[in-house]
Amino acid sequence: MKFGTKTIHAGQEPDPTTGAIMTPIYQTSTYIQASPGDHKGYEYSRTGNPTRSALEKNLAALENGVHGLCFGSGLGAIDAIIKLLSPGDEVISTNDLYGGTYRIFTKIFEFYGIKFHFIGMDNADKVESYINENTKMIWAETPTNPMMNIIDIKACAQVAKKHGLLLAVDNTFATPYLQQPLTLGADIVLHSATKYLGGHSDVVLGALVVKNDDLAARLAFIQNATGAICGPMDSFLVLRGIKTLHVRMDRHMSNAKALVAHLNEHPAVEKVFYPGLESHPGHALATRQMRGYGGMISFVVKGDNHEDAVSVVSAFKVFTLAESLGGVESLAGHPASMTHASIPKAQREATGVTDGLIRLSVGIEDIQDLLHDVDSSLSVLL
Ligand SMILES: Cc1ncc(COP(=O)(O)O)c(C=O)c1O
Repeated sequence: MKFGTKTIHAGQEPDPTTGAIMTPIYQTSTYIQASPGDHKGYEYSRTGNPTRSALEKNLAALENGVHGLCFGSGLGAIDAIIKLLSPGDEVISTNDLYGGTYRIFTKIFEFYGIKFHFIGMDNADKVESYINENTKMIWAETPTNPMMNIIDIKACAQVAKKHGLLLAVDNTFATPYLQQPLTLGADIVLHSATKYLGGHSDVVLGALVVKNDDLAARLAFIQNATGAICGPMDSFLVLRGIKTLHVRMDRHMSNAKALVAHLNEHPAVEKVFYPGLESHPGHALATRQMRGYGGMISFVVKGDNHEDAVSVVSAFKVFTLAESLGGVESLAGHPASMTHASIPKAQREATGVTDGLIRLSVGIEDIQDLLHDVDSSLSVLL
């Protein structure tokens, strides 16, 4: 099946009892057993639920993987990945990543004796130079949030294979429509399905996809043993959202392209970060590694200061000032005080997340309204 067919059909069969085309919401915690251990494949809904299973199979197909595992949030999925490690193990992570990922690494797992090295991952040799005998994992988020840097997944996978490490890739920004990390050699793909996969800002859910059977079994053990699973209603909402993923992404991208061209020429804008710009340092790599450049844009207001950025985000009328991204509606955020506030200021600024940076999640509204909104909001600075 091609991608746009998989989004609609993979993992989903008409319901055998009723013929319902859409996967039912199996709102049950438990399942009948004819005699102990004699059941139809499901015993208890923490371990497995048919609605969640359909979503897990669907995601495995979209990512060209074999096994999908769904969790109550993206962070629940991240938590499961790091629980593969033991005290003393080390992780090399990109230094430009979602603030909540940084927070769970430094504020939870460092206390359990896991060490994280946060580095710029602009080249794989640099990544390799941080490897020592304790290193067990490389963590990449690409495009990065919010600086839109591009990490070479294939090159990182080669380094990981050479040293026997796991490579985990957060594919939330790109989605499997634009980028398939497992095909490029990664071991684990992670999603905050809360974002583009769900697509309608009505659900919080996380997912992992892997190819390797042993790794899947270890993750499924952690999923069941620690219990951070998603419910059947939320699984249904993400399954439904995914059916239009490819169509939505095309529109997110065409709107983003038009906005980037406009912002790039705007007198109140100092710099635009978007991998589709030829001037972006990761442009050639993004062109090789991705099907398109996505719907996320960051830009710095002229003068790069906090008050001006806050005035602009507060003046939006169509873009909504809110955390999160990837929904059909356009959202704007001020990373320094919102999504990335948990990263210390000096460290955040070193990666480019300055006080004047604004992040846009470009929705699928009419582009004329989005252009007009951006113009009238930026006019407060002119
Ligand atoms: C890139 C990225 N990864 C992971 C997460 C965490 O996902 P969730 O909010 O579903 O826990 C987010 C949330 O914003 C994110 O943007």
